[in-house]
Amino acid sequence: MSDELPGLNPPERLLCGPGPSNVEPSVLDAMRQPMLGHLDPDLHDILLEVVDMLRRAWRMPDGLVLPLHCTGTAGMEAGLVHLLEPGDTAIVARSGYFGRRIAEIARRCGAEVIAVTADWGEAVPNERILQEVDRHPRARLVAVVHAETSTGVEQPLAQLAEEIRGRDVLLMADCVTSLGGVELDIGGWGIDYAYSCTQKCLAAPPGMSPVAVSEAALERIRTRRTPLPFSFDLQLLEKYWVERPPTYHHTAPILSIYALHEALRLLLEEGLEARWARHAEAAAHLQQGLTERGLELLADPEHQLAPLTAVRVPDGVDGKEIQGRLLREHGIEVGGGLGPAAPAMWRIGLMGRNATIDTAGRVLAAFDAVMAEEPAVAAAT
Ligand SMILES: Cc1ncc(COP(=O)(O)O)c(C=O)c1O
Repeated sequence: MSDELPGLNPPERLLCGPGPSNVEPSVLDAMRQPMLGHLDPDLHDILLEVVDMLRRAWRMPDGLVLPLHCTGTAGMEAGLVHLLEPGDTAIVARSGYFGRRIAEIARRCGAEVIAVTADWGEAVPNERILQEVDRHPRARLVAVVHAETSTGVEQPLAQLAEEIRGRDVLLMADCVTSLGGVELDIGGWGIDYAYSCTQKCLAAPPGMSPVAVSEAALERIRTRRTPLPFSFDLQLLEKYWVERPPTYHHTAPILSIYALHEALRLLLEEGLEARWARHAEAAAHLQQGLTERGLELLADPEHQLAPLTAVRVPDGVDGKEIQGRLLREHGIEVGGGLGPAAPAMWRIGLMGRNATIDTAGRVLAAFDAVMAEEPAVAAAT
């Protein structure tokens, strides 16, 4: 006798946390297209289309562009294992959870890490990063988080890249929450290694990490003394993704590649500037609504990120309880603070298809409903 097991039946959610965001319906449809084998010549044409669209999304006309088949964290790790060798010095800007993670992975690569820190909600001042570069002329890498999802802070990356130009050091940027949501010009600004993910402003499922690697970074990789981990080896992956005829490296996640193809097509069809503007407008609506309600935003207003808004939980309010009620009663996911050191906060993401004034309004209305019953808030009003 065979077991009758229940089928999968996940509930509908509005995903307005730090990611993942809701997947575009046409991206889900793309994953239902006929499966091809990873060595099928028709798939190889699709790979080249993805690379071409990704170049336009990153604004990266030269160097190497491709999506790694991995998480955002692994895209981070891939950059660090390529650009650092034991004994190298890396300067890491650290003002939140993900800057800390970069520093930790760099340390595990055997690098000496010079951390340049700032408080939660602050960007790391570029002058302080540059001071460390001048103090450590043999440093091989500067790494920053462009869009720090743990605090809602945007690091002024274009200015940093401009000021660092001419110094003999590579610049790596975490663009996990900025690709497709915030202005980026990886080629024009001169970023040497940028990585992102598929599950935030691209509105595709998690599982891929698009990267862009400059000519200077590729030259550094070619002259390494120590070998690279096989699974991440960008030179081997280029032989599959870009060189023709392709060389097998691993069985590619075909359906995730279809999803990314459609997500990039939607991004370019909308237009990069229009997409960034949509994220900015939705965020402005949300942030204005939150401050009008007397809530305090965590990020320094000068460096407030659009796709992610961190809000301080008011004194006397149980932030986790509110978060739980938003999920249970309104089907809306928002995030809390990330890591034990984080101050009490909610993190609200308006990313990808959720970056609309309408969605911002839905989140505000749900907050109003649950906060109205919060004793600390009712007592104060
Ligand atoms: C800024 C930033 N970097 C890196 C990551 C790690 O990405 P993943 O969770 O896909 O490993 C995240 C995930 O939220 C992030 O927000």
